[in-house]
Amino acid sequence: MTRKIRPRSKRTSSRLKSPTRRRLRFALVGCGGMGRHHARSLLGIPEIEVAALCDIVKSKCLSARREFFGPKGIEPAVYTDFHKMIARESLDAVLLVTPHTLHYPHAKAALQKGIHVLSEKPMVTNTAHARELVDLAETRKRLLAVAFQAPVSAEYSYIAELIRSGALGTIELVDAHVAQQWVRISNGTWRQDPKFSGGGQLYDSGAHMLNAMMWLVDSPVKRVFAMADRCGKKVDINATVSVLFENGCLGSVACSGNATMRGDTGVTLFATEGTIKTGIWGEKLEHFDKSGEKVLYPYMPYKTVPPERNFVDAILGRDTLRCPGRYGVLLAELMDAIYESIKAGCPVDVRH
Ligand SMILES: NC(=O)c1ccc[n+]([C@@H]2O[C@H](COP(=O)([O-])OP(=O)(O)OC[C@H]3O[C@@H](n4cnc5c(N)ncnc54)[C@H](O)[C@@H]3O)[C@@H](O)[C@H]2O)c1
Repeated sequence: MTRKIRPRSKRTSSRLKSPTRRRLRFALVGCGGMGRHHARSLLGIPEIEVAALCDIVKSKCLSARREFFGPKGIEPAVYTDFHKMIARESLDAVLLVTPHTLHYPHAKAALQKGIHVLSEKPMVTNTAHARELVDLAETRKRLLAVAFQAPVSAEYSYIAELIRSGALGTIELVDAHVAQQWVRISNGTWRQDPKFSGGGQLYDSGAHMLNAMMWLVDSPVKRVFAMADRCGKKVDINATVSVLFENGCLGSVACSGNATMRGDTGVTLFATEGTIKTGIWGEKLEHFDKSGEKVLYPYMPYKTVPPERNFVDAILGRDTLRCPGRYGVLLAELMDAIYESIKAGCPVDVRH
């Protein structure tokens, strides 16, 4: 498979044309920490009904149902087996909020059955799986998207418009970091077990940072030189990556999973007509013009929408996906090259 995946290309598959009037039947898969967050978010979307909850730990489904859905008079069916669920329920979409390596088999089974898939990050943990899912989604004419927050944030919409209009000029250099007490918080969980995580902090919060960089620079990565420290664990905890994008932009990445501070992230774009400082989730924004003056914009004309809202709007033909499956391919290709570079101790070309 040699087809090149490009960011933000105008492909029609990220938007469906035929709107439907009945409520879309969703299943939430994984009722752990982030699953509970998504449960709240799904409840705020009137065009859908959460028909089923799935988690291998039944009590997690039951407590999510009791806490979030019960008070609204909704009683989604409960499943501990994903495959049984998609066989029995007539679903329009699944939202996958499970450990990383489980996204691929569940997304594949869902797409094969003609069910739209919104996956938590990272979409998958290797390039072959990512390409297979994108191809499958295209063949089955179903949507496949990744639930990164930054691309649906008001801040990233503002920056994307600056870039699109040419107001920022050419981005020559991007600097990104994430620092969290990750190793302490994830100790003893699937996050530090490569069988379920596919990698360490680089594949966890690092995925937000790397996707944010590619989304903003709007170019695939050509070459990487990465180094990592496992700090005695089975997965990468601290890492640095030097990046060369295909459009010539350079990037520098620092990913700390062993920080003492609670959490800090940043993405800085150094461009010919200005500088942007933002976060990996789009949580902050500063804009400096060419002369270094801070730009005071009178209002933010963009709205942050939850990834689920954007996904539903795309299914209904009202919007395009802000982070379609091809970003899952770009990230998987990049991560494969990063891990290869860490192992080889030298720069590695990203295979697109
Ligand atoms: N976008 C974000 O900001 C953000 C934040 C946190 C987590 N996440 C992502 O969300 C996903 C889940 O992370 P989490 O923090 O909720 O983890 P978690 O461990 O809290 O929850 C995972 C849940 O999946 C369940 N599970 C495991 N195997 C399963 C299977 N075969 N079928 C159904 N359920 C199964 C577990 O029992 C658990 O309840 C990951 O992809 C993670 O990277 C994203």
